[in-house]
Amino acid sequence: MKTILITGASDGLGKAIAKKCSENGMRVVNISRTNCEWGEVDNIKCDLSKKEDLENAISIIKEKYSDFDVLINNAAIVGYGALEDLEYEKFENTWKINTISPLYLTAKLIGLIKANGSDVINIGTTHSQHAHPGLENQLAYCASKYGLRGGSYNIGAELKNTRARLVHVYMGGFQSKMHEKDYGNVMTDPENWMKPSDLADIIFNIINIPKQIEISEITINRKGRRG
Ligand SMILES: NC(=O)c1ccc[n+]([C@@H]2O[C@H](COP(=O)([O-])OP(=O)(O)OC[C@H]3O[C@@H](n4cnc5c(N)ncnc54)[C@H](OP(=O)(O)O)[C@@H]3O)[C@@H](O)[C@H]2O)c1
Repeated sequence: MKTILITGASDGLGKAIAKKCSENGMRVVNISRTNCEWGEVDNIKCDLSKKEDLENAISIIKEKYSDFDVLINNAAIVGYGALEDLEYEKFENTWKINTISPLYLTAKLIGLIKANGSDVINIGTTHSQHAHPGLENQLAYCASKYGLRGGSYNIGAELKNTRARLVHVYMGGFQSKMHEKDYGNVMTDPENWMKPSDLADIIFNIINIPKQIEISEITINRKGRRG
């Protein structure tokens, strides 16, 4: 039975991936502030912006789930705001959640990742691929996700001569409350965005590809959104 560690499985894409994995017999461990109350999911309560919570989660993983097969760094926030109104604390918090926590978690688990031949999946964004319309007021998000992208290159190189793999996913827009939670922007046209369950199917397939194949980066976007 595969063990999947996933940050942010209490909502959105993480929840869809966790459900898909759980329904297919995998052991799922959610790492977020809110516990998953559905299915057979283990929870590590953790605010990824807090160093002590992160250290506690790392200790629990080493103690209880050291044989994990997959780490999915999924949790993130938008950190939305006009440049002139940018608050230092919000900027800092966005980097802590979107960049420092996934890279620190991966770094501190690197010995187990190498020994287990685990897969690391970093959920990035097409907003860290190239400039295109609609990036306004998302400085913290774009920059922090660029940071994650840089970290993925570094960790991917670190894993080169091991059985472990790192996949960086440049994800396009999908049905989610991420923007609504951050600054109240309600999605009014969900039918125009990708469905988390479809994306979960793709991530599930990536987790299950034969070990002699490596996908280092992948872009998943709505048809016609190619940059
Ligand atoms: N939505 C999009 O259109 C879109 C597009 C491209 C890429 N992405 C990426 O896809 C991923 C998932 O996004 P989503 O739309 O599914 O987001 P979401 O629905 O808002 O879910 C975010 C998840 O992250 C967790 N989280 C947030 N802050 C946290 C914190 N301080 N500590 C621990 N966990 C925290 C939340 O759990 P708790 O609140 O329980 O802590 C929640 O489970 C993100 O990496 C995002 O950047 C999203």
